[in-house]
Amino acid sequence: MTQIAVIVGSLRRDSYNRRLAQALEKLAPHDFQFQYLDISQLPLYNQDDDKQQAEVVLQFKQAISDSQALLFVTPEYNRSVPGVLKNALDHASRPYGKNVWAGKPAGVLGASIGAIGTALAQQHLRNILAYLDAPTLGQPEVFLKVDDKFFAEDGSVANEGSRKFLQGWMDAYAAWVKKHAA
Ligand code: FNR
Repeated sequence: MTQIAVIVGSLRRDSYNRRLAQALEKLAPHDFQFQYLDISQLPLYNQDDDKQQAEVVLQFKQAISDSQALLFVTPEYNRSVPGVLKNALDHASRPYGKNVWAGKPAGVLGASIGAIGTALAQQHLRNILAYLDAPTLGQPEVFLKVDDKFFAEDGSVANEGSRKFLQGWMDAYAAWVKKHAA
C-alpha cells in the first residue's frame, strides 16, 4: 500500500476542501491509502519548544515520516494559506535539520467560493514546499470554485466534466508519487 498523508487546510466542519479530499479519494488508485492528519490539535508553534516537542507534534511528524506522499487540499484565506496550515507546516519542519517534509512527493489543490479558486494560496504553499524540499507536482493545476452543488450525495464530484478533470489530475499525481516516493 502507498500511504498518502492528507492535510486539509480548513478546520470547518462542513469544509469544501475536506469534501474535495474525500471525493479525490474515490478517484485514487486502489493501492493508495489516504490518512487524514488532524492539524486542529497542534499548539501554536513556538521555537522554544523545539528542544521538547509536544507528543501531538511528534505523532504528527511520525505520520508524515511513515507516509510515502503528501496531499494538500486547502482553502485560501486573505489571499494566502490559512494560519492553521502554516502552523502545521512549521511544526513538522523543525527542529532545524529534522524537517520531515523533505523528499516527500506532494500534490496541491484547493477549493474556494471565490472566482480565483485558491490560486494565490496554492502559489504561497508551493513556495513553502519548495523551501521544505518536497517535490511538488506542477501540472495540471486545480483551481476550483465550488458550492454545495459541486458534490453528489455520495460525496463524489457531481459534474462529469469536473470529475474527469480531477481524474486526470489524480492520474498525474499517482505517476508523480510513483516516480518520487522513496
Ligand atoms: C475566506 N474566503 C476566501 N476565498 C477566496 O477565494 N480568497 C480569499 O482570500 C478568501 N479569504 C477568506 C478569509 C477568511 C478568514 C475566511 C473565513 C474565508 C472564503 C473561502 O473560500 C470559503 O470560506 C471556503 O468555504 C473556505 O474553505 P472550506 O472551509 O469550505 O474548506
